[in-house]
Amino acid sequence: MPSNTLTVTDNRTGKSYELAITNGAIRALDLRQIRTGTDDFGLLSYDPAFTNTASTISRITEIDGDQGILRYRGYPIEELAERSTYLEVAYLVLHGELPTLSEMDQWVYDVTHHTWVHENLKKLMEGFHYDAHPMGMLVSGVAALSTFYPEAKDGANAETRRLQIIRLIAKMPTLAAFAYRHSLGLPYNYPDNELSYTGNFLNMLFKATEPKFHPNATLERALEVLFILHADHEQNCSTNAVRAVGSSQVDPYSALAGGVAALYGPLHGGANEEVLRMLEEIGSKDRIPAFIKSVKEGKGKLMGFGHRVYKNYDPRARIIKRMADEVFEVTRPSRLLPVALELERIALQDEYFVSRKLYPNVDFYSGLIYQAMGFPVEMFPVLFAIARTSGWLAQWQEMRGDPEQKIARPRQLYLGAARRAYVEPGKRDEPRRP
Ligand code: CMC
Repeated sequence: MPSNTLTVTDNRTGKSYELAITNGAIRALDLRQIRTGTDDFGLLSYDPAFTNTASTISRITEIDGDQGILRYRGYPIEELAERSTYLEVAYLVLHGELPTLSEMDQWVYDVTHHTWVHENLKKLMEGFHYDAHPMGMLVSGVAALSTFYPEAKDGANAETRRLQIIRLIAKMPTLAAFAYRHSLGLPYNYPDNELSYTGNFLNMLFKATEPKFHPNATLERALEVLFILHADHEQNCSTNAVRAVGSSQVDPYSALAGGVAALYGPLHGGANEEVLRMLEEIGSKDRIPAFIKSVKEGKGKLMGFGHRVYKNYDPRARIIKRMADEVFEVTRPSRLLPVALELERIALQDEYFVSRKLYPNVDFYSGLIYQAMGFPVEMFPVLFAIARTSGWLAQWQEMRGDPEQKIARPRQLYLGAARRAYVEPGKRDEPRRP
């Protein structure tokens, strides 16, 4: 018997089946042959939230959650954070290889020269209420981009795909900065082509009356590193959303709008916003034990802790924690950092967190840095979205080129009412009140 197979015996029928194991997985469709009779649809696998289902073969990002390893296209995240730039990493994630000097020059040129958006998009942004959440504005802005580039729906054309990828990476910071300036009632700043990707983003956010904005080098680099750390993270909630929406062959702007919407949620990109609120609420070190007790009693979560995949320290959190000191030297020291450090120390010794393998994730320290850099909490998931754009697009592109992929359409186990006859409105039973 070949060793790379799984033998399954169906105790309902006594029949045995041999299923192939490839790359550590069986094909869910192979279960369909396991049937009790000709009327039986065949066995399904039930996996709400996809906790044990691989939805794709991918060659972009590798995570080993037990070891705390993250690599883009084989390159360790630590080396990229130390030595690379966001645009170089975006190129790597999208193209599979690090660029040569001339490829990099062309890539930077292309992205830099697509940062402007149509003036009508400005009007769209202006239509939002003054206190609109910037993520809501970003979801709308990204979706609206598709109406300016109708050719984008031709996803089968490689050149069309390439152009939309450049546009999205280039325009995302512009939309994000417009959303931020709108919330402050300030005029929007236009891109400055002489600055780096992150330097220009800081320019569009913070430039006031000075004729030329000069970003602080430490903060510019810190943002670069944060963007590198967030560039991709394999099949997370928002990436899965991009792939699922994109599988209908809609244009990439619409697919990415789905990703931004998924990222907005507090369990995903909204987590660092929640971490900061949590730290504010705790306020001081002496209140930590009571907070930990309440978490253990199920009265809320320790935000910024835990991960579906990492059952060890999130390698991104380690890099961010180290970087925090450099940032706080330039900005004022963070009032909440001592609370965060103590919270981490206590949690990592507590049986509840240890037994569940709950460690700090990327969001635990990133919010403190963003706050020190002058970002309001509502902008945190927006920063995540800018960085993740390269990963979403790489995954979208991989999905479009994968002959095994089809429109994403899971099955369900229907446990609702069986067939019943329609009842006229006046003849229905009144609901019984307790
Ligand atoms: N605080 C307290 N308990 C927790 C936490 C937490 N942060 N995370 C998980 N648990 C408990 C959970 O209650 C469960 O306990 P029990 O076995 O007694 O029921 C156990 O640990 C397993 O958790 P789970 O909810 O089954 O794990 P999951 O893989 O479904 O959830 C998670 C992963 C990230 C949604 C979750 O850990 C969480 O909600 N963390 C807080 C939010 C957060 O920091 N999110 C950012 C994730 S990293 C960035 C990103 O991907 O966007």
